[in-house]
Amino acid sequence: MSITDALTLILEDAFTALDIPKDLAAVRFSDRAEIAQFQCNGAMPAAKHLGKNPREIAQLILDHVQARTDTPISEMSIAGPGFINIFVKDEYLSSFATDLSIPKLSHGENVILDYGGPNIAKPMHVGHLRTGIIGDTLRRILKAAGFNALGDIHLGDWGTHMGMLMMDYIHSNAADIVTECDLNNDSDVQRLFDDMAMRYPRASAAAKEDETLMAEARAATVKLQNKEEPFFTMFQKIRAVSMRGMEINYGALNVHFDLWKGEADVHDLIAPMAEDLKDNGYAIEDDGAWIIPVEQNDDKKKYPPLILYKRDGGVMYGTTDMATILERVRDFDPARIIYIVDQRQSLHFEQLFRAVRLSHIVRDDTELSFAGVGTMNGTDGKPFKTRAGGVMRLADMIDMARKKAMERLNEADLAQDMSENERDDVATKVGIAALKFADLQNQRHADYVFDLDRMTNFEGKTGPYLLYQAVRIKSLLRKAEINTENSDDPLHVSDLERPLLILLAQFPEIFKLAIRNYTPHVLCDYAYILAQGYSSFYGNCHILSEEDDALKNSRLALSHLVLSRLEQVLNLLGIETPERM
Ligand code: ARG
Repeated sequence: MSITDALTLILEDAFTALDIPKDLAAVRFSDRAEIAQFQCNGAMPAAKHLGKNPREIAQLILDHVQARTDTPISEMSIAGPGFINIFVKDEYLSSFATDLSIPKLSHGENVILDYGGPNIAKPMHVGHLRTGIIGDTLRRILKAAGFNALGDIHLGDWGTHMGMLMMDYIHSNAADIVTECDLNNDSDVQRLFDDMAMRYPRASAAAKEDETLMAEARAATVKLQNKEEPFFTMFQKIRAVSMRGMEINYGALNVHFDLWKGEADVHDLIAPMAEDLKDNGYAIEDDGAWIIPVEQNDDKKKYPPLILYKRDGGVMYGTTDMATILERVRDFDPARIIYIVDQRQSLHFEQLFRAVRLSHIVRDDTELSFAGVGTMNGTDGKPFKTRAGGVMRLADMIDMARKKAMERLNEADLAQDMSENERDDVATKVGIAALKFADLQNQRHADYVFDLDRMTNFEGKTGPYLLYQAVRIKSLLRKAEINTENSDDPLHVSDLERPLLILLAQFPEIFKLAIRNYTPHVLCDYAYILAQGYSSFYGNCHILSEEDDALKNSRLALSHLVLSRLEQVLNLLGIETPERM
């Protein structure tokens, strides 16, 4: 139970005794710490409900609570039209602040998170950064809350882009680079990888300009989908080689997937699924194609049908997504499936969710969520490009962040006494923290501007700032040379410590909020405020130089608590903290 839950129970008692609906009793952290630690705003709606004056109601509530002697409330007052302000006893606050456990919201229900979603054969670009980072963070958060959260990369490997690339190989008599590629031979793999990176943009541009090439690409894709050769072998090699590159990029970002499946993996489920859909009348024929109408009576806009089969017999994005849900239900019976995908695909997911609900492919109580993400833009407000105007490769961006982080460390005279290896490791952690935090701190659905200078700064709301604060506490604790971890001594609490205790006690609420709306940015805000709070604590009191031993130990213990909480949040965000800097 969080501290606000516990206080709410106390207020609920009073509300019930006064015949006021107790769901109005909610206590929350106050936005203005100078005025109150907690507040309850229930007197105003209660007054409406009872047709009385809100301040009077607030007074009755106050009287009722204050008549009790067993509450942890130290002070209660009424402000403005009837706000109830609350302060609690320091020991009570401490008992919540020192509890670092993470709220358990599930006993291991399966949750599938679908993120990353890169298309094989195409080089990975910055567009794959956001969904990967945010999706992986949500996976970590849900896992910490007790869910059996599984991340699935859901590769795009069954679409027309495959046909374009394969036909280009065939036309330029180079198919053997693919079919003969020995997956156990690193130089073969590298050769194919580089070749695809060079070839794909060209093949795709050519097909988009030339109707005949496009028609061929589509036909090749249908052949692939029917597992005809040489297409199927080419596909298998292309997929394997692409995956190596993805493993490297996502590995560098510390983005993890439990399942490396793709559209192609559900191919065999499609035909029987389609038969069922036709037999039950959910899918209907439309000018040679098969579609699932998904309109509903109260729709305010038009919902086009989901296309199951095109006229040429090819399957579409929606088809593989439907079959993937079928497979996930079969294999995991998940309580939730969450899609962390580009915001611009929201219509597709609405069609998909409607189609699988309509046809009962999922249970009615299975949550299907679309957690759309915005794009990362350049300073021109358009999707981020290289200086030459090309698509920025993910690997290049990761490299840039690492280099910039090294520059920053040198400028700030940090990590200078280290071996080159250790310094490289720190620079990598700082660079990745910069990239990930800059991404995660924005509202999930918002677009943001990529600004390498800003995100790698050791000052301001950045990943490097948080790492620096954490490392500073680590070094303080090393210098203190005492073990603060298992001390049972109560914390010393004064005006200096109280704001930090409030922040520490606030964590469970922030954590639940991050899950409720699938918004990791609230954890970023929290980490930043906590680090800032510690920074002013550190600036305003003696710690190592404190002469009173008990006080010194209490401040060290509090420093340790803040560090543990900060690292816990950074871990949830998938950001690693170095030991030193
Ligand atoms: N491959 C898709 C793309 O690049 C993203 C996949 C998202 N996941 C899904 N189940 N449709 O746009």
